[in-house]
Amino acid sequence: MHAQLDGQVVIVTGASSGIGAALARVCSVRGARVVLAARRADRLAEVAALCEGEPDCVPCDVTRAEDRRCLVDAVLSRHGRIDVLVNNAGIALYGSLEETTEAGLRHMFEVNFFAVFLMAQAVLPAMRNVGGGTIVNVASTGGLLAHTTAVSAYLAAKHAVVGMSRGLLRDLDGTGISVQVVCPHLTDTDFFEVGIGAARMSEAVQAVRGKMDTPEEVAEGIANQIGAGPFVVFPTQRSEAAYTRLKERS
Ligand SMILES: NC(=O)c1ccc[n+]([C@@H]2O[C@H](COP(=O)([O-])OP(=O)(O)OC[C@H]3O[C@@H](n4cnc5c(N)ncnc54)[C@H](OP(=O)(O)O)[C@@H]3O)[C@@H](O)[C@H]2O)c1
Repeated sequence: MHAQLDGQVVIVTGASSGIGAALARVCSVRGARVVLAARRADRLAEVAALCEGEPDCVPCDVTRAEDRRCLVDAVLSRHGRIDVLVNNAGIALYGSLEETTEAGLRHMFEVNFFAVFLMAQAVLPAMRNVGGGTIVNVASTGGLLAHTTAVSAYLAAKHAVVGMSRGLLRDLDGTGISVQVVCPHLTDTDFFEVGIGAARMSEAVQAVRGKMDTPEEVAEGIANQIGAGPFVVFPTQRSEAAYTRLKERS
């Protein structure tokens, strides 16, 4: 048993697919009381059926203030506390500066940055009340450097997540609340099919699918380090090696 998650109340946003679904499952196997949040209730129920214990499913669009409030209220009324928030929900946006639409840019920032900030804000009072907790923000190697081309808007949002997390880490010093930022690299999920402008990437993505981390590997790496690892969490050796390689080139 991994003691750091046993009995902990863990919210995972974006738990209906990919990294979030795998993370919800691994946290439940380690004894956490998991709350799965995303828009697709049917997919949440399928993921919950694979989890241990009695996970809660809360349909939630993280870009909606009312949904965020209902999610936090539901967790507090059922469990009375929130130990870990994993801000994992996210979408891709592919395209050059010229190709990126204002609507796409704004929507991607709503999901990938504003919702991350506002979910952290929403759980903070409960964490402050008990003098502890962990906020885990899922960014990307693209939150630390430009890991590929034609994703400048996405890189900006993920850099914003890293910057906000650094600021929060300082602001919460001495409160017992920790902050971590997770930087996965290429991971084999639906992310590459459902993102804005994803069609233009499908050929390039197919060529590297076999070299990607699996969501299960990424989830294990995150679960191993929640509340115990460094501020910047590389969930796998491959993601850390990719960061080191790209940094040397930049
Ligand atoms: N895959 C990669 O190569 C990679 C690499 C680095 C970082 N990341 C990051 O890892 C995180 C998870 O991505 P993934 O690869 O697991 O992608 P995924 O399989 O597409 O999962 C994305 C999740 O986000 C949820 N989501 C999207 N918009 C939402 C909204 N408005 N409200 C609530 N939930 C929403 C989706 O659920 P619903 O559609 O049901 O709402 C889904 O559960 C993202 O933050 C992504 O940026 C991924």
